[in-house]
Amino acid sequence: MTNLDERYEPIVVEDRDDIGSNTSANVPLLEITQACPSRRGLLKGLMASTAAVAASSAALPRMVGAAAAEEAAKGPSTLTFTQAPHEIGEAHQVAAGYDANILIRWGDKVVEGAPAFDPLRQTGAAQEKQFGYNCDYIGYQPLPLGSNSSDHGLLGINHEYTTPDLMFTDWYRPPAAGKTEPTERGTTPEETQVELAAHGHTIIEVKKEQGVWRVVENSPYARRITMNTACRISGPAAGHDRLKTNADPTGTKVFGVLNNCAGGKTPWGTIMISEENFNGYFGGGDPASMPEAANYKRYGISAKSRYWWRETVDRFDLAKEPNEPNRFGWMTEYDPYDASSVPVKRTALGRFKHEGATSIVNKDGRVVFYSGDDERFDYLYRFVTAGRYDPNDRAANRDLLDAGTLYAAKFNGDGSLEWLPLIHGQGPLTPANGFKSQADVLIETRRAADALGATPMDRPEDVEPNPVNGRVYVMLTNNTQRKDGQVDAVNPRAANRHGQIVELIPPGGEGHQADHTADRYRWAHVLLAGDPAKSEDKAVYHPATETWLSSPDNCAFDPRGRLWISTDQGEAQTKNGIPDGMYACDLSGPGRALVKFFFACPIGAEMCGPEFTPDGKTLFVAVQHPSEVPGATVEKPATRWPDFQEGMPPRPSVVVITKRDGGEIGA
Ligand code: FEO
Ligand code: CA
Ligand code: CA
Repeated sequence: MTNLDERYEPIVVEDRDDIGSNTSANVPLLEITQACPSRRGLLKGLMASTAAVAASSAALPRMVGAAAAEEAAKGPSTLTFTQAPHEIGEAHQVAAGYDANILIRWGDKVVEGAPAFDPLRQTGAAQEKQFGYNCDYIGYQPLPLGSNSSDHGLLGINHEYTTPDLMFTDWYRPPAAGKTEPTERGTTPEETQVELAAHGHTIIEVKKEQGVWRVVENSPYARRITMNTACRISGPAAGHDRLKTNADPTGTKVFGVLNNCAGGKTPWGTIMISEENFNGYFGGGDPASMPEAANYKRYGISAKSRYWWRETVDRFDLAKEPNEPNRFGWMTEYDPYDASSVPVKRTALGRFKHEGATSIVNKDGRVVFYSGDDERFDYLYRFVTAGRYDPNDRAANRDLLDAGTLYAAKFNGDGSLEWLPLIHGQGPLTPANGFKSQADVLIETRRAADALGATPMDRPEDVEPNPVNGRVYVMLTNNTQRKDGQVDAVNPRAANRHGQIVELIPPGGEGHQADHTADRYRWAHVLLAGDPAKSEDKAVYHPATETWLSSPDNCAFDPRGRLWISTDQGEAQTKNGIPDGMYACDLSGPGRALVKFFFACPIGAEMCGPEFTPDGKTLFVAVQHPSEVPGATVEKPATRWPDFQEGMPPRPSVVVITKRDGGEIGA
């Protein structure tokens, strides 16, 4: 028996998924380095941008008389709430005057017939019917379909990964002879089945009655999508030899969606599930000598896997199924209104560590999706459909995502941005460079973008178009590995621990006038995160900001177009000494980039999935991996949130936030 401790080497980095595998020559260009603004210059730019936005803004409500005077006394921000305590604790906290209630927890019933959660005797079969682990993206779709209801709808919720040390008992073994660190015991076959079923996605029906949200029991829409759910592969890479396996000689059918991080929605009411850190599930064999060696390397796939799945499930063993990893790393679309619908992996949107994919209907009817590849020094992408959205014929939009153009972003130091098309046969994307077809370009999207000269970014997480102002917002979470010689205009700090938020400005005008298909945009920073009290952080916010944030991850816009930011500091949470949670700021007017703190996660958790109802009166958020701090176990967690019962493990949960007076969040 192989020594598990040797085979599964512990990975000790701030974010063990962020392995940084871009060895391309796309280091920041000299012209960008030379154009990199100083902090003073950047601040000037930010403020100039603030003034320009203020001058052009039509989105802010106008006030007169006493109301205006009262508002002026509150300061430049339009956000009215008193900030939540900015401190790490065992429980969550929300701004005064708001309720933050648990909607659904890991192990709660989803599908009819689900057994009650029993953490000591959890089985794969039970988990298939219960709410999965580590909830991330949340997408709200109103009921009935086509309505604008804010009191009744469906929630599609991603489950990103599993944390066996916080799910299963007796996880650590005493240190091996001559070692000081305890060893992880590895999952049993049944625990592996629990993990397979705890990944994926959940669909629940939710309803607000007398101001209180609840999950509708035995709803016909309720569903779990897990690693055991049959999915279809479509688009240009479907059926390609590199997607074929022993179980699927057609290269068009795959079981499951993997490491589902953020996501998105389409204008026709479907939901997009992303596959992010898919690499860590595969291992075995000698990847460096296999035909897919370069592909494996660029995506961080090695002989060692983070999970134990390949011990009992052959398809995660590279020696047995070398093509199985090529069937993950895609965006998957499914219809939440039809519980029998087959999820479809849309290969036209490329294969990388998709944080999510968020959409906007362009003024010409084509639909544009923005997507980040969450790895340090990886890229930002855009997909433009070939066809046009038909608002009057839902079925006509069914396969819109199978044809279109994928682009990678190149940021210039003069404040412009170019979208570089990933089209087979154009530029370097030819057989001479290993791209024999568009399928090759898509299966190895990262290598194709390397060849085009895209800009390596500080880990792009959410990238979302703001429907109010028509601009696009990019959460760059951090990149501690960027060196002094690698800084550029858009990634201006070496050893970037705290990340930044970038605004993309398409040409054509504000709101619906913006042209999201244009080849060139402009860009600007909204803020550089970090602690303004520490000069080494080189943080930049609105000067009146009284709080600070680190590692922006997901985002959402309220109906007024204000930016709501959720954070994920990873293991740096303890070092930074602040909780992860929800922050918000104006994007226009005198309060642009004036950040306020709204909701604090319990210790060890990151904040994910912010999603407003259309009326802006409800905010759903996902608390992911509570208690995930070094050394925490089921027996000795850092918190037993949200139940706080002896013997009950911490449980990732969706929280629903409403204002006590029933009004708009943050109004
Ligand atoms: Fe799963 Fe990029 O966060
Ligand atoms: Ca994320
Ligand atoms: Ca994250």
